[in-house]
Amino acid sequence: MRSLVGPSSSTPSSGISRSPCGGCSPRRRPLPGRGRCWARAEWNADFGGEQWSLGRAFYTHLETERAREYFREAAASDAIVERVLPGMQARVRGLLASFVAGRVVPRPGWCGPGVHVFLPEGEVAEHGGVVHQDHEGLTRAQLSRGARALSLVLMLAPPQSGGGLRLFAAKSEEEADEEESVVVEYGQGDLVVFDSYRVHQIEPFAGDAPRVSVTLHSVEVSEGVWESWF
Ligand SMILES: [Fe+2]
Repeated sequence: MRSLVGPSSSTPSSGISRSPCGGCSPRRRPLPGRGRCWARAEWNADFGGEQWSLGRAFYTHLETERAREYFREAAASDAIVERVLPGMQARVRGLLASFVAGRVVPRPGWCGPGVHVFLPEGEVAEHGGVVHQDHEGLTRAQLSRGARALSLVLMLAPPQSGGGLRLFAAKSEEEADEEESVVVEYGQGDLVVFDSYRVHQIEPFAGDAPRVSVTLHSVEVSEGVWESWF
């Protein structure tokens, strides 16, 4: 486990998109370069297919004005994640609980940890992700009191090269300067935990394999008790 908790601060019916599959079963369709499909039939398309996810991610819904859909479908989203990856959500909360030496509970009504997928030759692969902080899920009160917040990324399948996490020293997205940053490279199974306020960005990546990772966001709501969501 690698941890990066920085002193300064930080991605249709049931709403499930079906990927284009050319007539073959999307469940069986392997991804380029990999002999597995990561349950592609259950993925959600975010930002017009720039990103995909298993389970609903709050920030993607917020930024595309689908927050109501996120909350309406939260239970269904968690059920899908549990069916595809049995026990994953509880285990990931458990990992974070070990890290903070506290309790990590699901935030009521929100989705639990889920999986982000970035495809080869997509926008993020070509140009890297947006420079950002993970503060979308924090309430005004939590933001104003500077509540401790952590983001967790568990790399299930790194791309063939690149795709690391760039962490900036800057206090704001506008001030992010590559010369004052570090890149954390992921191997398969690596867990990275970082301060959600810390400015960060996914690095561009190459190869014909997707970048597949689990993400969990969290905030300390009382001493030793952390609420978590995707
Ligand atoms: Fe992020």
